[in-house]
Amino acid sequence: MTDSLLEIEKLNVSYRGNGRVARILDGVDLSIGHGRSVGLVGESGSGKSTVAFALLGLLAENAEISVGHAAFNGKKRDFGGRDTAALCGTDIAIIFQDPMTALNPMFTIGTQLVDIQRRRFPKESRRALWARAQAVLADVGVSDAAARMHRYPHEFSGGMRQRVVIAMALLVEPKLLLADEPTTALDATVEAQVVDVLQRLRRRTSASMLIVSHSVGLIAELCDSVVVMYAGTVVESGPVDDVLRSPSHPYTRALLACEIDPYEAFNPSQDLATIPGSVPDPAHRPEGCIFAGRCPQRHDRCSERPPQRHMAGGRTYSCWLETTQ
Ligand SMILES: Nc1ncnc2c1ncn2[C@@H]1O[C@H](COP(=O)(O)OP(=O)(O)OP(=O)(O)O)[C@@H](O)[C@H]1O
Ligand SMILES: [Mg+2]
Repeated sequence: MTDSLLEIEKLNVSYRGNGRVARILDGVDLSIGHGRSVGLVGESGSGKSTVAFALLGLLAENAEISVGHAAFNGKKRDFGGRDTAALCGTDIAIIFQDPMTALNPMFTIGTQLVDIQRRRFPKESRRALWARAQAVLADVGVSDAAARMHRYPHEFSGGMRQRVVIAMALLVEPKLLLADEPTTALDATVEAQVVDVLQRLRRRTSASMLIVSHSVGLIAELCDSVVVMYAGTVVESGPVDDVLRSPSHPYTRALLACEIDPYEAFNPSQDLATIPGSVPDPAHRPEGCIFAGRCPQRHDRCSERPPQRHMAGGRTYSCWLETTQ
């Protein structure tokens, strides 16, 4: 018996089509402890959403999935099959980037918040489910929740809609809450409010969380540990403060250089760097280190695949260079 809610080892996902095979995830390991919050960070196209969608059984039909080992809540899982799809909506809930993906414009918020609970609480009356929905809606900061229950999604602002979607996820009392870029579609002020809701949630709920984001700042605010992905592989992982304060992998360092320092007071004159080059084509992945083509510290050895190194405090990174931390 392990103390992890979710354990995945060596998750591979490829897409086949137009006579080519694109390898999107290459041996991804992910472990989320009970009640813990894990951040998945990396550039656009690194495969973050693919990990989240694989957990939910939501990958496209042309996806080929294999996994070395997968377990959820102490039970072995067969990924990619009907077994995974069955987790969706009861044990795992997801908050998407665009709240309109989750909301139906034809029905009132109240009706949708009641319907989402039916599978989880099939014996409860509509009246009881309505009361529960209204309480959770108020809890995530929607004022005048009783009246708002009778309104339609288009009558809500973007930030309010995202609160409704967070309420929707909470109402099914999931063991794991996935949030895929939960604030990317929002402007800065509203983003701060939604981060605040998620932070309160993190303190109060017993659910584990997987927060997917390209923003290191968001991960620093919301997570206990972080998994850094590059081109479908995990290049570094560990407790969030340790990894962000003293990154071991050159990619993590480059990613942090592109961000406003999450631990410094905001300085509008701070220059933001970019990482030169681009992510390799998933249909033509290089043989050796996946980051070598863009790495400022590459050397001859990088034409071979680097080992995964384990450091104190549960940290890992994959690089030929040894760090002294
Ligand atoms: N059905 C599909 N067929 C082929 N390739 C796909 C398919 N779906 C996604 N991909 C590819 O998978 C790769 C990873 O995509 P994914 O959406 O997981 O990245 P991401 O890290 O979530 O990026 P973003 O930050 O932009 O959301 C991309 O190169 C994308 O083009
Ligand atoms: Mg994504």
